[in-house]
Amino acid sequence: MLFELILLAATILLLLKLLMAKPDKFPPGPTKWPLVGNIFQLKRWGPLPHLSLGEAARQYGDVVGLYSGYTPVILISSLDGIKEVSSRDELAGRPTSLVQTKIDKGDYGVIMSSGERWKEQRRFTLRHLRDLGFGKRSLEGIAHEELEVVFEEVEKLSRGEKADQKNPVCVHDILGTAGINVLWHIISGQRYSHSDPYLNKLMDNVKKLISISDPSGGVSVVFPIFTTLFPFWTNLPTFLELRRSLHQFIKDEIVGHRKTIDSENPRDFLDIYIAEIDKQSINPATYFKEKQLVQTCVDLFMAGSDTTFNSLTFSVLYMILYPEVQCKVQEELDRVVGRDRLPSLEDRPNLPYVEATLHEVLRLSSVAPLALPHSPLYAEKDIEFQGYVIPKNSRVILNLYAVHHNPEIWGDPHNFRPERFLDEDGKVTKPEALIPFGTGKRACLGEALARNNLYLFFTGLVQRYSMRIPDGHPIPSDDPEGGLTLVPKAFKVDFQTRV
Ligand code: HEM
Repeated sequence: MLFELILLAATILLLLKLLMAKPDKFPPGPTKWPLVGNIFQLKRWGPLPHLSLGEAARQYGDVVGLYSGYTPVILISSLDGIKEVSSRDELAGRPTSLVQTKIDKGDYGVIMSSGERWKEQRRFTLRHLRDLGFGKRSLEGIAHEELEVVFEEVEKLSRGEKADQKNPVCVHDILGTAGINVLWHIISGQRYSHSDPYLNKLMDNVKKLISISDPSGGVSVVFPIFTTLFPFWTNLPTFLELRRSLHQFIKDEIVGHRKTIDSENPRDFLDIYIAEIDKQSINPATYFKEKQLVQTCVDLFMAGSDTTFNSLTFSVLYMILYPEVQCKVQEELDRVVGRDRLPSLEDRPNLPYVEATLHEVLRLSSVAPLALPHSPLYAEKDIEFQGYVIPKNSRVILNLYAVHHNPEIWGDPHNFRPERFLDEDGKVTKPEALIPFGTGKRACLGEALARNNLYLFFTGLVQRYSMRIPDGHPIPSDDPEGGLTLVPKAFKVDFQTRV
C-alpha cells in the first residue's frame, strides 16, 4: 500500500513538473501553474492589464515570459525591445483567434491578418485612404463642420434654467461621434447627425466590442475548451452578436454603393475597393473579396473611433487639471491664429506649444497602452530574441505605457509638462521614445488622420472656451479605465465662452 502511495505521489509530482515546465531559454517570469498559467498572479498585480503587466516588468525585467493558460505571452517593456520586435519581419504576425479558426476560416481585415494578405491589404488601404484625405486638408472642412456641432452641443447642454446660470457638461457626451464621422466620411462619403440613433447604436457596439476584448487574449486563450463546450459562460455570444451587427452595417453600405457606383469616378474608399474586387474577380488567388472589405472597414472603425475619442477626452481633462498649460495654448493660438477663424492644418507648423501639448497628451494618456498583440509569423519556427526564445505560438505584448512612463527616459513621467518636447529655441522635438502609435511594420495605419483630428478638435475647443473644473466639484482623477484602450472616467467641465 505504501509503495502504491509513493508511486502515486511520484506520478503526480512528475505530471506537475511536466505541466509547469517552460521551454529552454524562455524569458524570466513567475511560476507557471497548470491549466491557468499566470492569470491569477496578473489579476493580483493590478486591476487593469497595463498595470499588472507593469508590475510583472518591475519584478522580472524588460523581457518577461508569462502564460495565459498554456499560451506563452512574452512581455516587452523597453524601447529597444519594442523597436526590435516591430522591425523584424518574423515578428510581424498577429495571434490567431478563435473567430479566425472556427468562424471566419481565415484571417480577414488588416488588424488581425498576417503574411501576404496583410501586406497587400495594408498597402492598398493606406495608399487609398491617404489619397482620399487622411493626412490632407480636405479632411479639415469635415472636421470643422463636426466641431461646430460639438460647439452647439456644449451650448445646449451648458444652458441653465436661468439666463445667468450655466450647467457643467460631461465631456463624454459631446465628443462621442466627433472623430468617427470624419473617418466614416472618407470610407463611405456619408456623415451622420450626432443624435442619429443608428450612429449612436453603432458607436455603442464598437465601444462594447472593444471593452470585452482583452489584450492578453481572454478566456478563448486561457481556456479554449470553454468557448467550445460552454460558450454561454464566456463573452463569445455577446462578441459575435456585436460583430454581426457591425458587419451588417457595412454590408448594407456596400449594397447601397453598388447601386450607384461609377468605377471611373470613385467617390470614396468603398467605391475604390468594390472596383478592385470586380477587377480581380477573374483572379482565383485574389484577396480582394467582399468579406475582406467588410472586415477592413470594421477594423478601421474599431481602431479609429475609440482611440481618437479617448485621446481627445484626455486632452480636455489635462487642460482642466493643468490650467497654466491651457493658458499658454490659448496665448499661442491668439497670437498665431486670432479668434476670428478656426485653427487650420496650415497653422500647425507655427504652433509649437500646441504640438508639444498634443505630444504630451499622447504620451501621458497612452490610450493604446499595450498596442496590439504581435506573434511569430511562421507557425513552425521559434524565434531568438535578445538571448531568449520566443516560442512559435506566443502572443508578444508591447508595453508602450511602460516606455511612456519610464523615469529613466522622461525624468518626471507622471507630470503633464509639454515643455519636455520643446528645445532651447522653442522648436518641437519628437524623441524616439514617444511611440503612442507603435513603430515599425505594424505601426498604426491611421496615425496621420488621428493626429490631424486631435489637433483640429483640440485647438478648436481651446480657442473657443476656457475650460475649468466646475465650482464645488471634486478634482477629477486622471486614473483611466478600460483595458485594450484607456479612457478617463466620466468628468464634468465648466465651459466659459471666451470673449
Ligand atoms: C490617437 C489615436 C490612435 C492611437 C493612439 C493608435 C494607436 C495604435 C497602435 C498602438 C497600434 C498597434 C501597433 C502595433 O501593433 O505595433 C495601432 C494599430 C492600428 N491602427 Fe491605430 N491608433 C489611433 C488611431 C487610429 C485611427 C484613426 C485609425 C483608422 C483610421 C487606426 C487604424 C489602425 C489600424 C488599422 C491598425 C492595425 C495596423 C496593422 O496591424 O498593420 N488607428 N494603432
